[in-house]
Amino acid sequence: MTKRITKAVIPAAGLGTRMLPIARAVPKEMLPIVDRPAMSYLVEEAAKSGITDILIITGRGKEAIENYFDYSTEYDSRLLAKGKESTVKELHREAEEVNVHFIRQLEPKGLGHAIRRAKSFVGNEPFAVLYGDDIIFSEVPVVKQLIGLFEKYGKAVVGSKEVTVEQIQKYSSLKVESTGTKDEYFVSDMIEKPSPDQIFSLLTILGRVILTPDIFDILDNTEPGAGGEIQLTDAMKVLSNTVGMTALIFEGTRYDLGSKLGLLTANVDRALRDESIGPAFREYLKTVCKGL
Ligand code: UTP
Repeated sequence: MTKRITKAVIPAAGLGTRMLPIARAVPKEMLPIVDRPAMSYLVEEAAKSGITDILIITGRGKEAIENYFDYSTEYDSRLLAKGKESTVKELHREAEEVNVHFIRQLEPKGLGHAIRRAKSFVGNEPFAVLYGDDIIFSEVPVVKQLIGLFEKYGKAVVGSKEVTVEQIQKYSSLKVESTGTKDEYFVSDMIEKPSPDQIFSLLTILGRVILTPDIFDILDNTEPGAGGEIQLTDAMKVLSNTVGMTALIFEGTRYDLGSKLGLLTANVDRALRDESIGPAFREYLKTVCKGL
């Protein structure tokens, strides 16, 4: 019987250099998708997957994330005076549906380095990781999909998709073997930012993983890799080489909010589905596209 997964870690301490100059003033994890910050979608995904405790890893200049999960008495009193109790209830919901904890990374030395900060929070349990700038819209929350695979094989899981040869060189590449079930794989090796001759497959890791606590001892011994950063992929490589991991081609559309195109496409996608502005926005887009 595998342990139930109730904890999640959201690393959000990266500098976000691809999103300068805005990242200097607003953490990329707080950039809006229509009227909600990216972080709100991540916490909602975790909560809907059965997670009860979330650790957000922050750093200097990321205070907006912490403030978001607080009550705002100024807004509350204004709204209550206008009889808008349901709006206040909705604003409180995110702070109340899960316990959100915070820790600072101190120095942004890579995703692996950030995850190391979660050691005492995680203890001896398996846990989910949601990359702070990856938003995934899906029917079933992706963390829940991954937990399903963890419960099936009892091994750490990476969320995966197939990408192009050009893209894989910027991401990671997985060495996989079929489990016999569609979209489920055993993973025995992986590499971060492979050169063309190092590519195992076009399957990459995207945004969500389930890890076992043995990752922390491995991370303690992981040297800086690609870009001089302590890479989570390098530690997961050791896990896959030794006890083995699994990969799930998840159902859902993923947006990289650490890139301009990802931010814009996520907004267009959500705005079109938004009940209040969707129809007007669709008309606007039609007019704009005609002129192209
Ligand atoms: P990225 O590699 O996309 O973030 O990490 P980055 O380093 O901020 O990106 P660029 O290249 O400078 O634009 C994925 C997630 O991991 C977090 C980021 O905040 C992001 O949510 N991260 C990254 C950390 O928490 N600490 C780090 O040292 C690096």
